[in-house]
Amino acid sequence: MKINILSRGNTLYSTRRMVEEAKAAGHKVQVIDPLKCDIMLERHKPTVIYKGEKLEKPDAIIPRIGASITFYGTAIVRQFEAMQCFTTVSSQALVRSRDKLQSLQCLSSSGIDMPKTVFTNFGMHTDAILKMVDGPPVVIKVLEGTQGIGVNLAENFESAQTILEAYNTMQSRVIAQEFIKEAGGADLRVFVIGDKVVGAMKRQAMEGEFRSNLHRGGTAQKISLSQEEELTALGAAKSLGLGVCGVDLLQSSRGPLVLEVNSSPGLEGIEGATNYNIAQEIIKFIESSI
Ligand SMILES: Nc1ncnc2c1ncn2[C@@H]1O[C@H](COP(=O)(O)OP(=O)(O)O)[C@@H](O)[C@H]1O
Ligand SMILES: [Mg+2]
Repeated sequence: MKINILSRGNTLYSTRRMVEEAKAAGHKVQVIDPLKCDIMLERHKPTVIYKGEKLEKPDAIIPRIGASITFYGTAIVRQFEAMQCFTTVSSQALVRSRDKLQSLQCLSSSGIDMPKTVFTNFGMHTDAILKMVDGPPVVIKVLEGTQGIGVNLAENFESAQTILEAYNTMQSRVIAQEFIKEAGGADLRVFVIGDKVVGAMKRQAMEGEFRSNLHRGGTAQKISLSQEEELTALGAAKSLGLGVCGVDLLQSSRGPLVLEVNSSPGLEGIEGATNYNIAQEIIKFIESSI
């Protein structure tokens, strides 16, 4: 099989691991920088031009599109879809997963539990927002943040108001969310491939921090999931239509709550914590899907 990995760099851990495993399984694999792809459109015959030359059609692509290039990267994924290539993440699911509001709307329709969330156009009063999410405290997040950036905890009314005003001034869209205190600064990252959970870890925020992202100094440990946690993660992946994804769950007193679903989940943290060959599972998923 010919597999293209859409990634900005072949030295990145996740990309490197998938290249290794694709080669080990006897596939032809090439890392393609999505920003160096041009899209060529004419009647039928959709084509991708890579570094000035027509790209040979791959059987499958693995999109690893960073948040900063969602628009361009998604257009490239769409082009490969038009060329009838299998993709581990569809362009539509990719776009949906990048917007925290749209993702939560989708999950909510599928009956998946989440922290109570409010989207506001800032015309509303802070006290009304706080009431809707049982705050303060309240978590205020920008819609398209990643790695914990743009995720704030407002402990009281004044700080909630200050943060909402600040984002309003910058014209950044935010959601206000119920703070799940009993999660204790931890969340679960559940790695889903197809309709299977292939690994799960608990991430604990560092002292004095509520965000458990590894990029924010969080530490990871392998865990085994309850049946409810597993079903919730699988339901979330299915709801967003993601073949390969990382579902983030909070353990709350009313059961698992989905925070978000990542369409380009990193492999380093999860392979390290679980000591399991997740890259190989992704390649096997492609083999079984084609
Ligand atoms: N409502 C919440 N209650 C408690 N902790 C939260 C809540 N929302 C986010 N967190 C913490 O902050 C981290 C980052 O939030 P998240 O929504 O996943 O944003 P990002 O996309 O930047 O990772 C989560 O992993 C979790 O540890
Ligand atoms: Mg997250």
